[in-house]
Amino acid sequence: MELPTQKLVHTFGALADLGQEITDSSDVSEMVRTSLHLLLGALGIRGGAILEHMADGQVLKLVAARGIDEGFPEPLHIDDAARVALLNAGLSALSPERLTTDKPDLCALLEECKNAAGTFGIQLFVPMVVRGELVGAVLLGGKATGESFTGEECDIIFSMVRHIGVGIHTHRLLEQLEQRAEENRRLYEDLRTIYRQTVRAFAAAIDIKDKYTQGHSERVGKYSEIIAREMGWAEEEVEGIAIAGYLHDIGKLVVERDIINAPYRIDAKQSSELNRHPAAGFEILSPIHHPYTDIPLMAKYHHERLDGRGYPDGLTDKQIPLGAKIVSLADSFDAMTTDRPYKTRRSLEDVIVDFRFNTGKQFDCEVVIAFCRALLKEINGESKERRILKMLGKNYVEAEKIIPLLSELISELDCIQISSAASSV
Ligand SMILES: [Fe+2]
Repeated sequence: MELPTQKLVHTFGALADLGQEITDSSDVSEMVRTSLHLLLGALGIRGGAILEHMADGQVLKLVAARGIDEGFPEPLHIDDAARVALLNAGLSALSPERLTTDKPDLCALLEECKNAAGTFGIQLFVPMVVRGELVGAVLLGGKATGESFTGEECDIIFSMVRHIGVGIHTHRLLEQLEQRAEENRRLYEDLRTIYRQTVRAFAAAIDIKDKYTQGHSERVGKYSEIIAREMGWAEEEVEGIAIAGYLHDIGKLVVERDIINAPYRIDAKQSSELNRHPAAGFEILSPIHHPYTDIPLMAKYHHERLDGRGYPDGLTDKQIPLGAKIVSLADSFDAMTTDRPYKTRRSLEDVIVDFRFNTGKQFDCEVVIAFCRALLKEINGESKERRILKMLGKNYVEAEKIIPLLSELISELDCIQISSAASSV
């Protein structure tokens, strides 16, 4: 016979193993199976089963078994009276043999268990109750030695069953948390989709007001996105700059339609009215909680210039947010490459000349390089996507002429970048 001290050490070992299994295992079925194995092994029990009380509250489902006849049915029906009786019993060993007298509400359930176990013979039925919630039950056969369970052994069984119950309960809570997190993720994604769709609708509304620049905001959004991606921005930031591009002219909604649609060069007064639109855009966008940073600022500063001659605040180079510099180039490129009421669009060769002349004065060098690189990649087929070329339309880009011009401008601006970086060290 095992000595009491050895038995105690053995039991503590099993409890420690059980605790570790419950904490470590992410697979609840595996955790329950191993826990049953440890419980049976710790006290030399012939076999047993663990039943889980399912979420609908009407059944106990077999989740692990050892030694019990294979014919054990699942799930076992549990009525309200039996559920309440198990909750009241808490952690106690119920003997199916004696239940006919002291637990009448459980008779039917335990009779079903007894029949299910067949010739195996269940000696103990221990409900698993955690925080007033019925988690399940553990069925145990007799000891391999044929001896009866002592009071101490019953205490050990309760302790281990409690551990198993807490493990199942914790896994359930984690599952619920994961489900909620997943629901929240989906909800957040839906909200972002709604936000993007709303922004696109706004962009369309802005462009409808200006009958000569249909699709301008949409194109500025796309050009900005392409530049930011070429500059190596993170995908989240790329999405943000696209939104800023779509909304950059939202302030035009408060400018008179006649000024926006004037089929001639507008006078100074009309021009100052039109020039209110970046600040008005900022006012419109600021109260909105955008899922991306600095959208209102990018709208406010998309007409600023590096040399300080822009508006509304006459900022200079370092004072202008990089996002606004990107939107500014995208905006100017679209203005130069689309027909306006008082002038037809410029040739791409001419636009490249403009870029060379205005880089460092109006446009940021790094931004121009990124845009030229993205365009060059599309023209020479290095990039699979042809988004810029699609926006420019057929027969506009003459590859043989443009490729050398772009390559030359990129290397020229690269040199300027390198020498200005060196002089700032
Ligand atoms: Fe604008």
